[in-house]
Formats: sequence, C-alpha cells, structure tokens
Amino acid sequence: MSTATTPATGEAAEAAVPAAACERGATVWLTGLPSAGKTTLAFALAERLRAEGHKVEVLDGDEIREFLSKGLGFTREDRHTNVTRIGFVAEKLAANGVKVLAPVIAPFADSRAAVRERHLANGTDFLEIHVATPVELCSERDVKGLYAKQAAGEISGLTGVDDPYEAPEDPELRIQTQGRTVAESAADLHAFLTERGLA
Ligand SMILES: Nc1ncnc2c1ncn2[C@@H]1O[C@H](COP(=O)(O)OP(=O)(O)OP(=O)(O)O)[C@@H](O)[C@H]1O
Ligand SMILES: [Mg+2]
Repeated sequence: MSTATTPATGEAAEAAVPAAACERGATVWLTGLPSAGKTTLAFALAERLRAEGHKVEVLDGDEIREFLSKGLGFTREDRHTNVTRIGFVAEKLAANGVKVLAPVIAPFADSRAAVRERHLANGTDFLEIHVATPVELCSERDVKGLYAKQAAGEISGLTGVDDPYEAPEDPELRIQTQGRTVAESAADLHAFLTERGLA
C-alpha cells in the first residue's frame, strides 16, 4: 500500500485503497516452472489484498487436481483441459468482483491463450504473470522433490525438464524471484496491480 502525508499532522499515513479497486474483479494467472514460486507469491498477495478489503480466491493447481480436475493426468490434452477448467471458474469469479489468483504451471501457450480469450470475450480482466525463475534455481529449491526424482529416473514428464514449458512471450508482467525475498517479489506484484487500478 502506498503512503500519503496527512496534512493535519504531517505524519505518514496509509493511503486507503480506492473503493473501485476493491470492487473490480480480475484473474491474475501465475505461470512458471515447478518450484518457481507461484503458490508462495499467490498466498502472500492474497493475504495483503484481503487485508485491504478485496474479495480474493486462490485457485491453486495442486488443489484443483484433487477435486475439480481429479482423474486428469499430465498428457498435453489433460494439461490443456485442466487449465481451461481453471480458467472457466476464474472468469466466473472475476466477473463477480473477485481477485482470482491462479498459481498454475499452465505450460502451453495455446491453453493460456484460450483462457485469455474467454476473459476478453466476457470483458473480464486477465493478467498473465510469468514467474520467471530459471530452471537451475527451481531444481535447487525442489520443494516437492520432483527434480530429484526425475534425475533419478523415478518419474518422467517434468515440466521444463523432460516435458515442454512454453514461456510466455508477451506476459503482462515478468516477476523475478532470483535474489529477491518472497516479500520483495510479492511487493512487485502488488505494485503492478496498483498500477493497473486493481489494488
Ligand atoms: N522471491 C521469491 N518468491 C517466491 N518464492 C520464493 C522466493 N524466494 C524463495 N522462494 C521459495 O521458493 C519456493 C517456491 O515454492 P512454490 O511452492 O511457491 O513453487 P510453485 O511455483 O508453486 O511450484 P509448483 O508448480 O510445484 O506448485 C518456496 O520455498 C519459497 O519460499
Ligand atoms: Mg504451486
């Protein structure tokens, strides 16, 4: 949140988030490699937005695969179906004033384009954020141990290693997490939403 000076006291005070920004829905899609920081940033941003009075929903890829996309695998077709399902729900929520944060790998450009198209057709804001952490750092972080398992030959089809990841060519924002704390990257993201009149 930006700060402003209160004329009466001369002290710095938190500037209120404009009411219109709280009422505007949008889908903020965080795409990137496994362990890039998508989920971490989505929850950090969600907490801040909620504290400011926004309605927020996080549609996390892992959680969605346990329920809405249960039974889908990791073929190109299933990954596409997963992403378009999440996009469908996101658009419905965003059209009703919710800030929807979708930390979902979404490796294929055409799936992301389909989600964008659906939002555009309905006049709903869609922001594609590339959490652009290099694969070397992701594999060091290896939050779920997937990079190690792939290297040991225990699994295959890991996005960015032996399965495709089509990095966005023209995302609304590219976020760096290398050499940045979670708080710094989350602040970058929040500043971008503020620029767009969404926070
Ligand atoms: N600047 C940063 N922004 C986000 N995460 C960071 C940053 N610096 C370090 N990290 C760490 O990187 C890890 C990212 O893990 P996270 O689960 O968020 O990745 P993910 O992109 O959601 O992966 P997956 O696709 O497997 O769900 C966390 O342990 C987090 O603390
Ligand atoms: Mg995640």
